[in-house]
Amino acid sequence: FTLILSGCGGGSASKDIKIGLLNEMTGGNATFGTSSANGAKMAIKEANAKGGVLGKQIQAVIADNKSEPSESVNAMTKLVTQDKVVAVTGIFASSNAIAASSVAEASKMPFLAVGATNPKVTVDEKSGKVKDYTFRVCFIDPFQGTVGANFVLSTLKLKQAAVLIDSSSDYSKGLAAFFKEAFTKGGGSILAEESYLQKDQDFKTILTKVKALNPQVIYVPGYYEEVGKIVKQARELGITAPIIGGDGWDSPKLVEIGTAPALNNTYFTNHYSVDDTSAASKTFVEAYKKEYGQAPDALAVLGYDAANVLIDAIKRANSTEAAKIREALAATKDIAAVTGSTTLNASHDAVKSAVIIEMKDGKQMYKATVKP
Ligand code: PHE
Repeated sequence: FTLILSGCGGGSASKDIKIGLLNEMTGGNATFGTSSANGAKMAIKEANAKGGVLGKQIQAVIADNKSEPSESVNAMTKLVTQDKVVAVTGIFASSNAIAASSVAEASKMPFLAVGATNPKVTVDEKSGKVKDYTFRVCFIDPFQGTVGANFVLSTLKLKQAAVLIDSSSDYSKGLAAFFKEAFTKGGGSILAEESYLQKDQDFKTILTKVKALNPQVIYVPGYYEEVGKIVKQARELGITAPIIGGDGWDSPKLVEIGTAPALNNTYFTNHYSVDDTSAASKTFVEAYKKEYGQAPDALAVLGYDAANVLIDAIKRANSTEAAKIREALAATKDIAAVTGSTTLNASHDAVKSAVIIEMKDGKQMYKATVKP
């Protein structure tokens, strides 16, 4: 039998190693959080089948942030104080990740964000310093916004844009700013900038203003709920211009809300496309379909990759001590992942390619891959 000593470093009192999966399980962005948790659960299941980590099985502790920053603080606090997990992965929305990260930093809890792309997730806004315990497995929005702007300028060859910003989201405000910067630098001009709020239902007032200026293209860096409504209402008003967005569009619900015909002539930048033909991707897509009966979206893949990167870091740390896991995360280099080989840079961000997706008759069509 094994003797288990309590009090020897984070969580080693139990026979399992506990990892927190903190996600948007309910609330306005539940499809994202559920996908991310499903991806992570699959990675943990696979790791456990191969003997777990440090000779122990991994136990996933699910926590729900209800798609809210304040609940993200509560959920992270609970994982730290009650569940005593050794590390946390999850969260896609930048505003929620920034909130959860404040607790992770204060309590020295290694936190690997999944899809949160705003720079402020890993860099402290006030001091400008890279945070100690917060990391992410995705690219960041200065890159994503530039990819979107270059696509409009070089591929669509359009130069006059309107931008619609969700002013309640750090993600939307950031991505809009990075798009504008790259777009104007590349010779484009911004004709109009309008704001909305998550949970708004009627976008026709701002869309009517935008329509009067006749922009060649509209950039909407929001989440699928609002984006679906915006695109549908734009087409109802007779706006035929292409509409462009970012990773926040990637949900099966986008077509349900926005409708297939309205979404024709729209494009968005993303982390991953199911049309990725790499061997790693094919194996993952098949395994995921078998487990959950549906194709993975970008967050499922990122959630899977994040859990694998974290498990690998715990292995390399050869310990469940927070400081050692933190060090191993910071040293993450060339880890094979489905979204591409993963290296975390000096600001704790992954440097990775983006893909461009076109919506066609309700389906996502892969258009291009853009390297960093
Ligand atoms: N990048 C978005 C954010 O930071 C979230 C997101 C990630 C959405 C991946 C969809 C897919 O808020």
